[in-house]
Amino acid sequence: MPKIVVTGGAGFIGSHIAESLAKDGHEIVIVDNLDPYYSVDIKQKNIDIVLASGDASFINADVTDLNAMKEIIDSTVDYVYHEAAQAGVRISVEDPFKPNNVNVVGTLNVLKASLEADVKKVINASSSSVYGKVKYLPFDEKHPTEPVSPYGVSKLAAEHYCRVFYEVYGLPTTSLRYFTVYGPRMRPDLAISIFTKKMLANEPITVFGDGEQTRDFTYIDDVVEANRRLLNNKSTDNIIMNIGSGKRISINDLINALKQITSSCSEVIFTSEQKGDAEATLSDVTLAAGIIDFTPAIPLKEGLQKFVNWFIFD
Ligand SMILES: NC(=O)c1ccc[n+]([C@@H]2O[C@H](COP(=O)([O-])OP(=O)(O)OC[C@H]3O[C@@H](n4cnc5c(N)ncnc54)[C@H](O)[C@@H]3O)[C@@H](O)[C@H]2O)c1
Repeated sequence: MPKIVVTGGAGFIGSHIAESLAKDGHEIVIVDNLDPYYSVDIKQKNIDIVLASGDASFINADVTDLNAMKEIIDSTVDYVYHEAAQAGVRISVEDPFKPNNVNVVGTLNVLKASLEADVKKVINASSSSVYGKVKYLPFDEKHPTEPVSPYGVSKLAAEHYCRVFYEVYGLPTTSLRYFTVYGPRMRPDLAISIFTKKMLANEPITVFGDGEQTRDFTYIDDVVEANRRLLNNKSTDNIIMNIGSGKRISINDLINALKQITSSCSEVIFTSEQKGDAEATLSDVTLAAGIIDFTPAIPLKEGLQKFVNWFIFD
């Protein structure tokens, strides 16, 4: 069975990918520096889930450390899922240097180590944030990329490094542009998680802007499935593709749906828009449908119910 390194494997998406691949019998190495951007206890719990799922190990290492990446990604490694990042648009507006360092320099290090180790493919976690300014919707992969946050810039730069490492050095890479991912174990700084916590306590929730901004929310299982389909798949070399639900909902409608599920009477408080936030996101997943037969399977209401159940009972 192939040996697979999952950077950021202690985080939300990385731990789900690692768990799924470990259950299939692959040898998994989680690489994560347990960055305290959010609770390290959550990350430790995620690691424990992966370690209990099969042949998996954890190495505490930083992707910004090239020598460490070279030591870990050696000739025994077949695939690298690169999920490690300083995620989050708002924190990137406050401090653009950290996302640049982790997301750009870190990706460069992972690519360099993977090239030297002759890995079969690096799968890079990119983001709908690379699109930024909306010229038309839905976003297909040909839509101009004009990020509106430092985070978006860093993810776009990382994508370009992946492309260039394929075109210049021949390292197979694939970048997946995730559209706001949600589900069990999701990052506590994301809207669905914040709203759910407040709604279950009937506390007021704050919305930035008028709540009419729209988002494409993608359930974690669909993201994991897309990632799984990249193993042993030469047709995805040097491909950048959207992974989203193909549907969008306004924040106001999302709040109403969550209120129904949680039977909450939370008051909604509107405040000024946040710098760096996208006005809208909506994916066109035709490319992923054609290349990896990707079809988002979990509708939003079902996914929200699953998330709330996990939130209450886990
Ligand atoms: N969650 C989303 O909605 C979403 C949307 C688009 C793209 N993405 C991308 O998907 C990937 C995973 O996101 P997530 O939501 O699971 O975030 P996350 O914060 O839960 O996971 C990222 C992990 O990377 C680790 N990390 C941070 N800095 C590191 C470093 N210097 N060295 C090693 N590890 C480091 C963190 O400790 C964390 O465990 C990221 O690349 C993110 O940019 C996420």
